[in-house]
Amino acid sequence: MKSTHKDLLHDIEICVSSGQNLPIILSDVCNLLKDKVFHYDWVGFYILDKQNSLLILGPYCGKPTEHTIIPVGKGVCGQVAQSLQLKIVQDVTLENNYIACNLDVQSEIVVPVLKNSQFVAEIDIDSHSTAPFTVDDEKFLSAVCDLLSPLF
Ligand code: SME
Repeated sequence: MKSTHKDLLHDIEICVSSGQNLPIILSDVCNLLKDKVFHYDWVGFYILDKQNSLLILGPYCGKPTEHTIIPVGKGVCGQVAQSLQLKIVQDVTLENNYIACNLDVQSEIVVPVLKNSQFVAEIDIDSHSTAPFTVDDEKFLSAVCDLLSPLF
């Protein structure tokens, strides 16, 4: 894992053990990720409303989005809530099941937060670069989600 990623994981561990409430911790994590990783241009959390099969936008950092509620199955976010698998879209123009938020976005990665193997939330990251996401991003963001999982 890259040293920037290791440092960031350390910073996120500190946030997680800060004793702050969940929205503040998630908001701090969004800010850290967007500020420290060049190709992360919008970072947000969608939280599962299990009863209604909806994803509800939680803390985020970046331009406001009108997509504050997304049905499970719809868009890249909804697909991840259904499959429980991390998904990378390196070029959003090639993804059929995609919800466009902002025309600057070229690519997206969505990583599930699982608690006891159940989907509880996800990190959604948009990038203005095409094909910026690597296996390093996958490993790093999966580690971030593992750190956050006990908070849900
Ligand atoms: N593009 C996402 C919608 C959420 S916005 O990126 C903030 C999707 O296709 O699910």
